[in-house]
Amino acid sequence: MKTRIVGTGNYLPDNVLTNDDLSKMVDTSDEWIRTRTGICQRRIAKEDTTYSMGAGAAKEALKQAEIAGEEIDLIIVATSSAEYAFPNTASLIQSEIGAKHALCFDVSVACTGFIVAMSIADSMMCTGNYRKALVIGSEVLSSQLDWSDRSVCVLFGDGAGAVVMENSESDGCGLIDQEIHSDGNKGMVLTCGKNTADRITADGTLRTNQTIQMNGQEVFKFAVKKVPESIQTLLDRNHLSAEDVDYYILHQANKRIIESVAKRLHVSIEKFPMNLDRYGNTSAASIPILLHELSREHILKPGNLVILSGFGGGLSWGSLLIRL
Ligand code: COA
Repeated sequence: MKTRIVGTGNYLPDNVLTNDDLSKMVDTSDEWIRTRTGICQRRIAKEDTTYSMGAGAAKEALKQAEIAGEEIDLIIVATSSAEYAFPNTASLIQSEIGAKHALCFDVSVACTGFIVAMSIADSMMCTGNYRKALVIGSEVLSSQLDWSDRSVCVLFGDGAGAVVMENSESDGCGLIDQEIHSDGNKGMVLTCGKNTADRITADGTLRTNQTIQMNGQEVFKFAVKKVPESIQTLLDRNHLSAEDVDYYILHQANKRIIESVAKRLHVSIEKFPMNLDRYGNTSAASIPILLHELSREHILKPGNLVILSGFGGGLSWGSLLIRL
């Protein structure tokens, strides 16, 4: 038995923050941000919350799949920006969409979260105990940014994406293979504290660490090494060449990272669709946001072979091989 994607959805806040807007807030420029990252603008939540955006994306995915909320028996939300420790974001979304039979929980694996959430859903569904799942990535990372730190605040944006997964007996379609890892030894190069990360320092002052802190160059080096390795492992294990894959749907962190992965795999950049110019890095939401855009625009077609690949805090990284 395999699990397959039968619907996609996304939700982006209306409020747009351009690079020029940012250049009025910190010492940066549209030119610097564009050339270093490929990002031109991002969406920033005002009224929207992690769960309201997740619910918006979920409703659209359910509509596309022609499935009622009541039929869903599993909801997993990948997020690092949940409003509550409990109830979890998935339970709040459950209530919004009337999925009264669903088991609900969140996973926290930063920008790799959506890959891990799909993998967990797949494993649970393959037991036969769960038949229809919603897997959602939703983030309000704008609430975790130090808006005076130009090296980080220009990179991120808010949004949500969702897929409906279903058990499928049919013709080789679905999640074929996966390859996911963590390396806690390097975790401190990309951090975001919670309340418990506050520390009283030796001189008695309180040091809070509730914003995203990053060694950009270390993260860059990690991503351009580990992502192609993970993809190559999947290709080799499934006797595929890089050309056999129709699209590589990567976490939308940085255009230069994606270009480097394409180069290392010797694959045309045309196979690496991007929308980070419009949304920035939306962490766990970036892959399902892009999946929905590609599906809505009929770029992705039934039968396409795709690899989804995420990387980020943990450090963590991983890829899924899927026949649509
Ligand atoms: N605007 C203008 N200048 C900036 C800036 C900004 N927003 N941010 C940093 N700079 C400056 C730095 O202060 C530094 O100045 P200096 O040379 O006078 O010291 C200079 O630009 C170069 O900084 P550096 O950090 O070396 O830039 P970089 O080329 O490594 O690019 C990143 C920085 C963050 C774009 C890059 O490291 C990156 O993309 N890393 C991966 C980040 C990522 O994707 N994280 C999320 C993963 S899930």
